Order: sequence, then C-alpha cells, then structure tokens
Amino acid sequence: MAVRAIRLFGDPVLRTPTPEVTDFGPDLHRLVDDMFETMDTHHGAGLAAPQVGVSTRVFVFDCGGRRGHVVNPVWTAVDDETQTGPEGCLSIPGVQAACTRAARVRVHGVDRDGAPLSMEVDGILARAVQHETDHLDGVLFPQRLSPQARRAAMRVVRESDWFVAGETVTDTPRGGRAVWVGDGQPAVDTAEALR
Ligand code: NI
Repeated sequence: MAVRAIRLFGDPVLRTPTPEVTDFGPDLHRLVDDMFETMDTHHGAGLAAPQVGVSTRVFVFDCGGRRGHVVNPVWTAVDDETQTGPEGCLSIPGVQAACTRAARVRVHGVDRDGAPLSMEVDGILARAVQHETDHLDGVLFPQRLSPQARRAAMRVVRESDWFVAGETVTDTPRGGRAVWVGDGQPAVDTAEALR
C-alpha cells in the first residue's frame, strides 16, 4: 500500500465527472488500498478517487462508526428531511462551512470484486456518501453552499498558502485551524466535521 498525493482545489481532475468502473482487476484493488491509507494519513472521514488523481467512480469512508468503500455508487434520499453540519474537504484545506444535505440516504453500488452492496445511512456517514459521490460528479462542497458562503470560501482558498497557480498536489498533511466561512458560528463542534 502507499499514500498517494492529494489533489487540491484548482486541479482539473476534481472538476471532471468520472466514468464507471468496469475493470475489477488488481489496479482497482491497489487503488482502494491506497485510498484507505491516504485517508487515514490525513485523518479524513472520506476520500474519492479523483482526490488522488484517478478519474473513476470509487470512494472510501471511515466515519459514523463504519469503514468501507463503494464502487459505482448511486444514492437516493430516504425521505425529504435534511441535515446541516460542518463540512470540509482534504482537497480544500483550511475551509469549513455548514452544508445542508439529505438526512438519510440509501446507497447502492458494488465492492472492488464487483459484488453488489447497499446500505441505508444517516448522520455524518450520509453526508460523506453525498460529499464523496459529488466528487465523482466533479462537484466540490462549496458549490453546495449559499452564494455568500461560497464567495467567502473562495476568498479563503485564494489567500491560502497552498493555493499556488499551477501547483495542485500535496503529500503533506495540513496543519493549523480551519477557517469557518459559513453564515454565523458553527452549530456543532467542528472537531466532528466531515472532511
Ligand atoms: Ni472532499
């Protein structure tokens, strides 16, 4: 296994919708192993393949008391209820904001051997499923914020040390405190934030 470099905001791979996985061979197994190790190294709650520069439909997660991976995920909301919680992203270091998501989702997909899997999840894991599937569609969490919060997030990004035009890869864990860009103060402890 190996820790792979995290692609940062500004890298086109993060804005590119990914094609479905059709080859369940050793490359996919290695990718999933490496994504787990990379997520753990950066203390993430989830990680999607484009974040390590691979444009394919896979994510891993470790939050809400569960750990796993989903290949070719498709989620649907269980009902109309929503939840709002602190969110960040390993590809956008130092930015956190309150993001509204479906409260409960059912996710279908397959594992790395192609075996079908499905689970119904809520709380932070439901947010992770939505956040990571967004990555596979080329969508980053600031796009899910209010226009005001999104502008604030972009301001923080532009002023960040890591945001240098043409340099969009990091293999060093981030440090320091995240900047809260939401409207008002965080409603819950940001230490529990999805990132
Ligand atoms: Ni993310």
